[in-house]
Amino acid sequence: MTRKACVIGWPISHSRSPIIHGYWLKRYGIEGSYVRIPVKPEELPAFFSGLTGQGFAGCNVTLPHKEAAFRAVRTADAATSRLGVVNTVFARDDELWGTSTDGEGFLASLTAGHPGWRARDQTVVILGAGGATRALVGALIDAGAARLLIANRTRARTEELKRDFGPKVEPRDWTEAAEILRHADLLINTTSLGMTGQPPLAVDLDNLPKTALVTDIVYTPLETDLLKRAKARGNAIVPGLGMLLHQAVRGFDLWFGTRPEVTEELYDLIARDIDPGYRR
Ligand code: ATR
Repeated sequence: MTRKACVIGWPISHSRSPIIHGYWLKRYGIEGSYVRIPVKPEELPAFFSGLTGQGFAGCNVTLPHKEAAFRAVRTADAATSRLGVVNTVFARDDELWGTSTDGEGFLASLTAGHPGWRARDQTVVILGAGGATRALVGALIDAGAARLLIANRTRARTEELKRDFGPKVEPRDWTEAAEILRHADLLINTTSLGMTGQPPLAVDLDNLPKTALVTDIVYTPLETDLLKRAKARGNAIVPGLGMLLHQAVRGFDLWFGTRPEVTEELYDLIARDIDPGYRR
């Protein structure tokens, strides 16, 4: 039987998910398809009503639908309930269920990119408190991180994270960003700064311990200025592309019944799609 899945968003033309899932379908010899479907916000209810009728096992959900999808389907797990967003929808027992795989994708990317890394007892400095930050905060706390110092331009968003995730979250002002780096075992950029077309992330790294691991959720460019500067001063780095690949694993398993591997070949395939000049 041919199994089908898709990714929905508005717009959706930029999504690289079809390349990722297409690679795995081929690698595991699975008869299936994974396509992009543009869905306008007002079309979302009708889209979900018709999903299984059209033969889909489920879908990925991207901007701007992650919150509306959360409200439209049954929530598959407690971690997702706390996030209020889903990125992966799957059909079971004639119902649609939703889950978020961003947090586990983030942790898996760090473990794959820096073998031996563990969240337990770590102090994490997070720059930014936008939509993408919540899944990381939830996953790091569930994995036993000790403290999360979060600096964001808009202070209210860090206070909201503290309210939702508890006292391990320590809100800091954006102006304190360079200063609090001295506490970091792990530094994460979750702002859009440093992304191609956006202003640079102009935070001085002088206070950052050389032993700290540095990662960025931005993956265009593949190696952001933050990662370049961290690497140049001797810090270990994990590029953001790994998270995109690892967050896709559970969806593929749910729809196609095989837990796929994030191979170097897949990493290189997507890296070259982002930057044709990429060399490992
Ligand atoms: P989302 O849709 O994920 O919420 P966003 O609003 O673009 O994305 O925000 C991404 C993050 O980048 C936020 O933490 C944002 O800070 P604010 O909460 O203050 O908006 C941060 N960010 C974007 N531009 C910034 C800038 N010029 N300086 C500092 N932080 C910035």
